[in-house]
Amino acid sequence: MAHYDLVIRNATIVDGTRAPRFQADVAIQKGRIQKIGSFEKADSDHVIDASGKILAPGFIDAHTHDDRLMLSGPDMSPKVSQGVTTVIAGNCGISLAPAPRGMPKPVTPPLDLIADESSWFRFPTFKQYVEELRNKPAATNCALLVGHTMLRVQTMEDLEKPASKGEIAKMQKLVDEALEAGAIGLSTGLYYEPARAATTEEVIEVCQPLSARNALYCTHMRNEAEGVVDSLEETFRIGRELAIPVVVSHHKVLGVPNYGRSAETLPIIEKAMRSQEVGLDCYPYCASSTILSWSRVGIASKVLVTWSKPHPEVSGTDLKDIARMMNLSEEETVQKLLPAGAIYFSMDETDVQRILGFERTMIGSDGLPHDAAPHPRLWGTFARVLGHYRRLGLFSLEEAVHKMTGLTARTFGLAGRGAVKEGFAADLVLFDDASIDDAASFEKPVAPAKGIDTVIVNGEPVWREGRPTGARPGQVLTRILSH
Ligand code: ZN
Ligand code: CU
Repeated sequence: MAHYDLVIRNATIVDGTRAPRFQADVAIQKGRIQKIGSFEKADSDHVIDASGKILAPGFIDAHTHDDRLMLSGPDMSPKVSQGVTTVIAGNCGISLAPAPRGMPKPVTPPLDLIADESSWFRFPTFKQYVEELRNKPAATNCALLVGHTMLRVQTMEDLEKPASKGEIAKMQKLVDEALEAGAIGLSTGLYYEPARAATTEEVIEVCQPLSARNALYCTHMRNEAEGVVDSLEETFRIGRELAIPVVVSHHKVLGVPNYGRSAETLPIIEKAMRSQEVGLDCYPYCASSTILSWSRVGIASKVLVTWSKPHPEVSGTDLKDIARMMNLSEEETVQKLLPAGAIYFSMDETDVQRILGFERTMIGSDGLPHDAAPHPRLWGTFARVLGHYRRLGLFSLEEAVHKMTGLTARTFGLAGRGAVKEGFAADLVLFDDASIDDAASFEKPVAPAKGIDTVIVNGEPVWREGRPTGARPGQVLTRILSH
């Protein structure tokens, strides 16, 4: 009788730790990597010949908005097609749960980035959401954050004020419940209107329950433009006062007057890392994407509309061209299109490269899976880093893989993931070193990456021969408490 569920032979292994690549066979059984070595015979009915290909740990997407995609598109094609096997969801203050109050119609922006129908916000408790993910698993694993903006919408009377003592107490209860149900931390989106009025003190208070569990604080900071340094200091202060790790989400410096300032922010981050736990992630593009608003248009050199509820036909079109077609000013056009989303070209390529190349930067897509014409980061991020940016010489293959596996697993406390190691979960990606690259572009944003051969989650292939296999072995991962 065959001993192993699956054997991968003659692979070139890049193990996620930054160690140099090596040749080996890998045997998988019951969802785990059982043995790595040079086998005399395969000893399995399922053998993949990996000659000439790279076998790496499945990529961990450090920053996603896949909370609803896991339920509405459980094959997770935008992710598994580029080698992602685990997603961190619930970012930027936005989470699908808990919704004890339900959700107003229309959905309060920016919560509409994950679901524009109120009926999606149907989990009164975080636990019910986690149970749904366990009962109807997706193709990828996930680890979940609870969103502060969601908590505000669920507990507050007036979002334009800091939370009252009573409202803070309600939010703390919901945070506690989410952590108890398996959330690994909390995210904020202090940049967005429903959370902007929150003071640093409010955030610290709401996050109190994180301390006892050493849970994470991840943040879309208040300001990523002229105020970026103050926002970094605010983030570090929150981490210090609560004695918890912090993650600076999608680090960037926005707007022409701030171009080049990553030369200032990275040393500040590096210095903070010496005295407290700090992580950061980045996506490999010099355009951002979020909801459409006139205030954001000003600092961008170009704006593409990604979706519009009243005018779905303009998805993918330049705002200037839409204004011309509608015979309106750009500001009036924005008002006509709302609620809507957009891509903003407002970053400097030199900054993007400097941040990506920084040793401690993780890779996160920040993909928006429900946009009609999404930012190409949704389908392209991981392959673009391994292809385009590695070939520019920003890092070696071993370093690039580490940024999307070992480093990420360590930062988020995902034990037994992020490395090709005996006893670790069999989350794996097999790809061709020479041809891997992104295919999604701003013109054609929906396209599977090039060069991905097979993607395996918990021992089961989820992507083969350019399509999903239909297997959905994803698990809800929790954070290891003692750190
Ligand atoms: Zn964000
Ligand atoms: Cu985000």
